[in-house]
Formats: sequence, structure tokens, C-alpha cells
Amino acid sequence: MYSVYKGLLVPSMLHTPESLKYFEEFVFRPDDIIIVTYPKSGTTWTQEIVPLIMSGGDPASVETLPNWERVPWLEKISAGTFNLEQRASPRMLATHSPYNMMPPSFFEVKPKVIYVTRNPKDVFVSSFFYHRTASFLVNPGPQTNFLHKFLDGKVRFGSWFDHVKSWLNAEDKELILHISYEEMILDLKDSVGRIAQFLQKSLDDEAIEKIADRCLFKNMKKNNMSNYSGVPREFMDQTKSEFLRKGIAGDWKNQLTVAEAEYFDSVYKDKMKDVKDVKVGFKNT
Ligand code: A3P
Repeated sequence: MYSVYKGLLVPSMLHTPESLKYFEEFVFRPDDIIIVTYPKSGTTWTQEIVPLIMSGGDPASVETLPNWERVPWLEKISAGTFNLEQRASPRMLATHSPYNMMPPSFFEVKPKVIYVTRNPKDVFVSSFFYHRTASFLVNPGPQTNFLHKFLDGKVRFGSWFDHVKSWLNAEDKELILHISYEEMILDLKDSVGRIAQFLQKSLDDEAIEKIADRCLFKNMKKNNMSNYSGVPREFMDQTKSEFLRKGIAGDWKNQLTVAEAEYFDSVYKDKMKDVKDVKVGFKNT
């Protein structure tokens, strides 16, 4: 069900050897905008926000193109079908790749990156539910088993810790905007403004307000181009758990036992001990 790509587990159905080769050989442009996330950290949300910012608030693309076509994942099989080479600049792209596994062209061209981080306990919970709905992911089994797998990095795209650290330690820091899911929850308007500023898109207050409103969980959930409702049930069974499931910060408190949360914290403390100056807004709380 999974294959190993350069030491990382990836679902074979979504990432074939050909699609991974396409990713490795991808030719970036300096004005590309890349959304980078560890899975379940707010990718789909950012795939809604960034196109709205770039269109100045015009909802045409978010209303007509599914998120995976609007902001394609470079390492997924679908990437090769979107003719990205012919797409007008600035292209909006997505990846779950750790920094060190980005294609050679990325390091030559140095496009802009928006890296979204989320409290890993909530990433775990979101991922646990998602694994129960997606047929191309392994059944997570009991929560505690999946927790150990997650903390050991024996899940798709490997360890959350390695992923986050790879992007925190990336070179050319001025080209990376670190933003957290929690910051977006706390003040979406401010977050949209920060992203727009980073992308050098000047939008007035009203436009920012409108984009933020569209991207609120309750509103975005209704967008059939972003809620994966078009995906057949055999691949994603949303009767078990919706893709836009809860959309809150801190759901782990409802889901983890005290012992699980304590174990999580001890692993976090150990794995993150070399991270001195975490400027991103996530906290393991
Ligand atoms: P939950 O399962 O905790 O609800 P990704 O897109 O990286 O796979 O992340 C999915 C998570 O982001 C899900 O978390 C989903 O509900 C949440 N999400 C998507 N759109 C959101 C929005 N507009 N506001 C808040 N959370 C959102």
C-alpha cells in the first residue's frame, strides 16, 4: 500500500515512480509560490487562501477548480496531467516534501515558500481520522498504536519532527513565510494580510476581510471545490469522517488520554530539544 521513497513512506496509489520522477525533475520559476506542509497541517485551507489573494479576491478559481488542480501537489500522480509547464506565472504549487528532498531546481531558482505548521497533537488527531476514511492509506488501527507510529515517523511523509525541523533550518529564510494553523485560527484576517504582504500583493482592508470570511471553516466547508465531496466514496469515505472535520485548535484534548498526551510531550521535548528559537506560532500545548 505504501512505497519507500528516499526513506519516506508514501502511499503508492498517489505517488508512482513516474510521478516522483516528475517531481524530481520539476523546473521551478522564481515567481512560483509553493505551499509546503506536513500532511493535515492546513494545506487545503492555504490552497483556498493563496489563490484568493493572488486573484485580488475574485472567487472564480476557488469556485470552479478543485483545490488539487488550483494548487497542484508536485509529487502526486495528477501533477503531470495539469500541463504546469504551460501555466501562466505566478504558478501556485503544493508539496509535502521535507526541505532536503526538494528537487535540484528549487535550490537554484529559489521560489517563495509558505510553510504551514500545526500543533503536532492536532496533526495526529486529524491524521488518525483521515486514515479511517481514505482507502489509499493504511488502516490506523487503535489510536495508541497509531500514536506510536506517528511519533516514530512510520507514517506517510515520515516524522513530523524531521519535516518541521528541515524547513525551520532551511537556507534563504527571507524566502520562506512560516505561519501556523493556530495563528490562522486566532486571527484569520491578520494571517491573510501577512500572506498577502509576503506575496507582495497589495490588497485593501475590505478585500482582506472578504477573503478571510470566505476562508472561515464554516464557509469553506460549503465549497464543493475544496471539501473533497467530488472524490468517490471508495477512495474517501466522508460518511466516516468529513475531510473538513472540525477545523479547530486543541481537539487533541478531546481525543488523547492523559497518558497519551504525556507520552507525546516527552517525545516532543526530546526531539525538539535542539530547536532553540522557534519563531513560528505553534506550540505543543
Ligand atoms: P481537522 O481534521 O482537525 O478538522 P490538510 O488540508 O493539510 O489535509 O489539513 C486538514 C485539516 O485542516 C483538517 O483538520 C481540516 O478540517 C482543516 N481545515 C481545512 N480548512 C479549514 C478552515 N477553513 N479552517 C480551519 N481548519 C480547516
